[in-house]
Amino acid sequence: MQATAKANTNIALIKYWGKRDDTLFLPMNSSLSITLDGFYTITTVEFCKELAKDAFFLNNRPASEREFNKVSQFLNHIRNLAGIHLPAVVTSENKVPTAAGFASSASGFAALAAAAAKAANLELSKKELSILARQGSGSACRSIYGGYVEWQKGIESDGSDSFANQLLPEEDWNISILSVLVASEEKKVSSREGMKRTVDTSPFYDGWLHTVQKDFETAKEAIKSKDFEKLGKVVEANSLKMHATMLGAEPPILYWQSGTMEIMHHIQKLRLSGILAYFTIDAGANVKVLCLPSDEQSVYESLLTLPAVQSVITCHPGSGVTYLS
Ligand code: PMV
Repeated sequence: MQATAKANTNIALIKYWGKRDDTLFLPMNSSLSITLDGFYTITTVEFCKELAKDAFFLNNRPASEREFNKVSQFLNHIRNLAGIHLPAVVTSENKVPTAAGFASSASGFAALAAAAAKAANLELSKKELSILARQGSGSACRSIYGGYVEWQKGIESDGSDSFANQLLPEEDWNISILSVLVASEEKKVSSREGMKRTVDTSPFYDGWLHTVQKDFETAKEAIKSKDFEKLGKVVEANSLKMHATMLGAEPPILYWQSGTMEIMHHIQKLRLSGILAYFTIDAGANVKVLCLPSDEQSVYESLLTLPAVQSVITCHPGSGVTYLS
């Protein structure tokens, strides 16, 4: 009872920010992302009666207690679905450099869901896999699919209609995503805590809820018509709006650092010079820049001239979950 799966991470274009159910990871709003080709997790799961309890190794080392607990709890979903009671050993290799400013939870839980389900002989559809991955980390439900992916928030209280769908395969529209590192220390407020505090205390959260569906529809239209300018505008505005909700939280959450601001101004200046480049920022200080492949080299070089920039890694749309033998 062993299987290995690989999942890429994703970057949200329209952000998931806020849960309506903390246990089932049900979102307040629909979101949209691109699965990336560069950063991934490979996970092997083996259910095994010889073990006394679960074990979890991350990058060849025993995982921390916090990480272990999350994984072991997640395995309980699989055991319940499959009707098995066996412990499992989980081995994960994370090629999501934290130094690149990406969270590894999306690729991590997508790979874990796929490997564990297969190892438990569960024959799940992609939709079912997406629902399962969502319960490890919300954004993981989108990494089941490649390319441009939507996550419809759903309305059911059991989460049965809250899962991801592919909007456009990765090979259908190539754009460039540059991951710009300006801060490598761990952020003080996790996205899980940040979104909860915002929902509970920010007077600006209502404004988010009133407008995010429209942003989502606009981004979908832009992807359908491959209109990069339309997509870039709504992506940048939506990211700023998410951060604005956090500034109103109590206590306020400010993820940006001076380098973050420097990149934002730089990208807006590039646009004035005629280059279509747009930024988006998750719950952290690092910035992702979207541009057309024809501008990739010049945007890359211009970013490297900024003193605040520690590194730039370029990605493109990548594939969904795959199984390795
Ligand atoms: O699913 P989580 O807990 O990794 O939260 C993701 C939150 C954002 O990255 C800020 C937005 C998103 O949609 O990925």
